[in-house]
Amino acid sequence: MKKILIVNGSKRKKGNSYALERYMADKLAGKAEVVEFNVGEKDVRACLACDTCKKKDAPFCIQKDDFTELIPTIDKCDAMVIIGPVHYGRFPAQLCAFVDRTYAFLNFKLPGYSSASRKDKKLAGYLCCGVGPADVYLKVLDADLRNFAASGFTDYKSFVAGGVGVPGSVMDNADYVKAADEIVDWLLA
Ligand SMILES: Cc1cc2nc3c(=O)[nH]c(=O)nc-3n(C[C@H](O)[C@H](O)[C@H](O)COP(=O)(O)O)c2cc1C
Repeated sequence: MKKILIVNGSKRKKGNSYALERYMADKLAGKAEVVEFNVGEKDVRACLACDTCKKKDAPFCIQKDDFTELIPTIDKCDAMVIIGPVHYGRFPAQLCAFVDRTYAFLNFKLPGYSSASRKDKKLAGYLCCGVGPADVYLKVLDADLRNFAASGFTDYKSFVAGGVGVPGSVMDNADYVKAADEIVDWLLA
């Protein structure tokens, strides 16, 4: 069974990202080993930029928090999906910290500048936004996903649901649910 990591960047437990997380996790149940990581409920500190990780040939972080504990799961999974809200045109702050912490995988001495044990993993991003412009946010998301190349994610799929300012309303839109279905199918393929 594929190992799939779901990372949720929202703080709103009754919001869109949590609804999508539940929907995707339920669809994946029995077809994949799923780990759910809710950034808003975890201790994910800012990168110290200490460069201690650069002295290692394997993914490493000197900090002791929930991100460091997740490093082996990020490294060994087959795929990851990041779900979250758009905050001021980008990932919310704690999700930005999550991205920064993948610096633990970046090593300029190694092939592909990466200490990841595999570099063939899939990464999907599904963001929700209240007003938009969703097409602009999609371009930002596409660029953001490529920051995960050093942690071994080299195949990307992205989607932004616009006009979902009401918590949970993403699930009322058939096109947005279909986009979630397509991401689940792609992660499993
Ligand atoms: C701090 C903050 C900043 C936001 N910034 C934007 C924004 O720049 N553009 C936008 O369209 N929606 C913005 N929103 C609205 C959220 O993206 C939207 O309500 C989203 O569906 C929330 O997802 P969630 O329920 O999963 O947290 C913002 C919301 C918050 C709380």
